Amino acid sequence: MSLIENLQKRAAVKKFDPSKKITAEQLDQLQSAIQLAPTSLGLQSFKVIVVQDAETRAKLRAAGYNQAQITDSSALFVFASLTSLDEAFGKKFIDLVADVRSVDRDSLAGLEQMVLGTLSSRTDEQKVAWSHKQAYIALGVLVSQAAEIGVDAAPMEGFDPAQFDEILGLKELGLTTSVIAAVGYRAEDDVYSKMIKVRRPKSELFIHV
Ligand SMILES: Cc1cc2nc3c(=O)[nH]c(=O)nc-3n(C[C@H](O)[C@H](O)[C@H](O)COP(=O)(O)O)c2cc1C
Repeated sequence: MSLIENLQKRAAVKKFDPSKKITAEQLDQLQSAIQLAPTSLGLQSFKVIVVQDAETRAKLRAAGYNQAQITDSSALFVFASLTSLDEAFGKKFIDLVADVRSVDRDSLAGLEQMVLGTLSSRTDEQKVAWSHKQAYIALGVLVSQAAEIGVDAAPMEGFDPAQFDEILGLKELGLTTSVIAAVGYRAEDDVYSKMIKVRRPKSELFIHV
């Protein structure tokens, strides 16, 4: 089936079947999709906490407007942005590029200058806002990949990020919550996924110049 057909079938499920779990292979495929998502300069300035522990998810649900998807899905993906993008972070990225591409680090001087220049030109607040945007791109790729493998993914921003940070101990890890997604399988009586998808017409959505 094509991606478009799978996107038509997917839905931001409200009621998951808690007894249906995704396999370790599916979890890995979802992680691969997130890993392969494009990011600005390729920096991937976020991490993803995959929460399956029931006790932790119960606490997160209380911080997420009691949304049942948080506890009843198979896993909860918490996208969290790095709170410090300093020079060391930029240099470590260049080290990785040199290593993966087996090139001399000196040949990456131009890229390094661009990365470090970009990082130093922004305030910490701007960098976190920038990282949140990157996390949302990865969220979109996760949702698409889930649709491709027949797994339900419910993206959510209805939660208190400060409480999520506290419950997951993210501050100590230099992270702050961006957005979350519950993944698993819809319950047979999930009303929302049976509804007709509502989208603005292409004539309203696109402007051709
Ligand atoms: C960034 C983002 C945040 C969302 N937050 C929530 C949420 O907190 N709770 C919820 O039930 N749905 C949430 N949704 C789901 C949207 O309401 C849903 O994607 C939209 O209505 C379109 O429906 P569909 O995804 O089923 O096609 C969110 C979606 C996105 C992309």
